[in-house]
Amino acid sequence: MISFPLVQTVEGIFSPVSKEVDELNDRLLNRISPDSHSLCSILQNIFSAGGKRLRPAVSFLVFRALEANREVLHENSEDKLFLVAEIAELIHTASLVHDDIIDNSLVRRGAPTTNSKWDNAITVISGDFMFARAAVNLAKVDLNRIVEIFAVVLENLCSGEIRQVEQKYNTETTWDYYLMKTYNKTASLFEASAEAVTELFPLSEQESKAITTYGRNIGMAFQIIDDILDFTSDEETLGKPAGADIKEGQINIPLLYAFDILKYQDPEKLEYIKARIKSIPTAETPISVETTINEAIRICKETGAIDKSYEKAIEYVKEAVGGLSFLPDSEYKESLVKLAEFVIRRQH
Ligand code: FPP
Ligand code: MG
Repeated sequence: MISFPLVQTVEGIFSPVSKEVDELNDRLLNRISPDSHSLCSILQNIFSAGGKRLRPAVSFLVFRALEANREVLHENSEDKLFLVAEIAELIHTASLVHDDIIDNSLVRRGAPTTNSKWDNAITVISGDFMFARAAVNLAKVDLNRIVEIFAVVLENLCSGEIRQVEQKYNTETTWDYYLMKTYNKTASLFEASAEAVTELFPLSEQESKAITTYGRNIGMAFQIIDDILDFTSDEETLGKPAGADIKEGQINIPLLYAFDILKYQDPEKLEYIKARIKSIPTAETPISVETTINEAIRICKETGAIDKSYEKAIEYVKEAVGGLSFLPDSEYKESLVKLAEFVIRRQH
């Protein structure tokens, strides 16, 4: 049985690595320094708009938890750790900057998106610059396996995003597709943030696997909660519009459960809601789209699909935490457990 400590704020959870997170923020805000004045101000704008820094925190916490009872492999492992953390945040941020163009999103983290303040050309290049800086940092880490881990993440992000675009409004999409997309677009970067750190320590295959599984599974849970919050939350809490996934034709986990349940309970309602979702792009009025979104949300709540989605996220988190038993007790290990708990309890 896993017992979760009391839920805390992100700052509380990260307190054992608060110095590391502060240092990372300083690097992101003050030390990227591109030659171009415009790029400088865009990056300042992006990195000062918040962000929970979850992926770098995973790297920091895993590193410190492992360091508690074993020697690092390289003299400059501490430098490599900071580079890895920065790479994770750069890749994450760059992918959101590009995603907001693709989704035509105007608000994120309660602030205007880059594409709403600058034109698309400038926005794409800013994202590209962050990917490029991540590549420069990877070269500095100077470990082939870590280069490979993050290069594969870039491939995964692209395949996840393209699947998402290809499958828009496809109400016959499958669970396999959903789980693969979720791994590709979100869990793979959490996984890499944990796995890259295992390359800095002499670990057994089983120990590395446990850390990698932790990263992957909290990533899966994180995205599932993101998909649930789109149904249950509001713009003020989320810092981005709610209901946006359905509007964009994303058939995510609450809808997949609702479809499975309706197949037996109410096949007519199933066909009705599928037809409404498919008709969103050709809907004659915005009110009709709003009605579809509200009906889909109501059906997901009524059928228990939201609860089932939460259960699935909890399963992932339990599996994530279950593998950490080999780590010695420390405040870092405790924070890794609290972080997993936070991922499912978060409201935005
Ligand atoms: C957010 O999803 C988007 C992602 C997690 C990944 C986006 C990936 C890309 C744009 C491809 C990256 C490109 C390169 C060159 C590597 P969401 O739209 O479900 O979440 P949101 O509601 O927060 O926008
Ligand atoms: Mg988006």
